[in-house]
Amino acid sequence: KKISIIGVPMDLGQTRRGVDMGPSAMRYAGVIQRLKKLDYGVVDRGDIEIGRPPQYDIKNDENLKDLDEVVKANALLADSVSKVVDEGDFPLVLGGDHSIAIGTLAGVANKYENLGVIWFDAHGDLNTGETSPSGNIHGMPLAISLGIGHSRLTEIGGYAPKIEPENIVIIGARSLDDGEKELIREKGIRVYTMHEIDRLGMTNVMEEAIKHVTRNTDGVHLSLDLDALDPQHAPGVGTPVVGGTTYREAHLAMEMLAERRIITSAEFVEVNTILDIKNQTAEAAVGLIGSLFGEKLL
Ligand code: ARG
Ligand code: MN
Ligand code: MN
Ligand code: MN
Repeated sequence: KKISIIGVPMDLGQTRRGVDMGPSAMRYAGVIQRLKKLDYGVVDRGDIEIGRPPQYDIKNDENLKDLDEVVKANALLADSVSKVVDEGDFPLVLGGDHSIAIGTLAGVANKYENLGVIWFDAHGDLNTGETSPSGNIHGMPLAISLGIGHSRLTEIGGYAPKIEPENIVIIGARSLDDGEKELIREKGIRVYTMHEIDRLGMTNVMEEAIKHVTRNTDGVHLSLDLDALDPQHAPGVGTPVVGGTTYREAHLAMEMLAERRIITSAEFVEVNTILDIKNQTAEAAVGLIGSLFGEKLL
């Protein structure tokens, strides 16, 4: 199977500039060479074009910053990802802030009867304009994909919802807003917070998570926000939260996904080069991509 890389230099889903250079940073960190070494055919489809707003952080009445540009870019991304899946390639999307999961999932989910999602993140990304404390759309993509939120976002790709709450698992959570907690309870979304990772260990968390997302699904998307890792290992993120997964835990998780061969599409997001230290976060991302695709020491 061939891997098709799509870069999405999106930074308008939040307000810290520098995450638009994430795709360049991961390319510079050698993502393509790394995958070729594993004997994959790799095609780099370049970057999705991102509009520039007349002025940054335009907040509309609905508490959705830079909505027009986020909608436009995600519609383009959905098209591009959907083509990749049609051609039988594996879509690997490099962000960009997490608002791009809206487009990735829009492009993938209609190709599967029931898509599972593994969401590695310090956050829930389950806000809407009504519940968001920030108005940043990168805090909303999981809700949007469930069909909850502004219709201009939920209808990207021409259908909604993309996914069902029972087919999702969030791993690494340690910062949730009140509205997100409510939605998690209401929808019965499976969440492994840092507490469960500490308590059960990453091995058991992944065993359970894999079972959960493969029960009723015919494909599984991995959405990995680098802020799932502890800021010690991934300092280049816009919304760092202390107490995250270690470098080893994150690799173990990717290695277990590789062993089970369940992942059918993936995205790595929130690498912010301005906030990073010597490209450490991009390098961590590329290392995790290596593990996800079966890299082993021996
Ligand atoms: N919950 C906060 C918000 O809605 C932070 C979201 C962070 N999201 C992310 N993809 N890093 O603004
Ligand atoms: Mn579907
Ligand atoms: Mn996050
Ligand atoms: Mn996120």
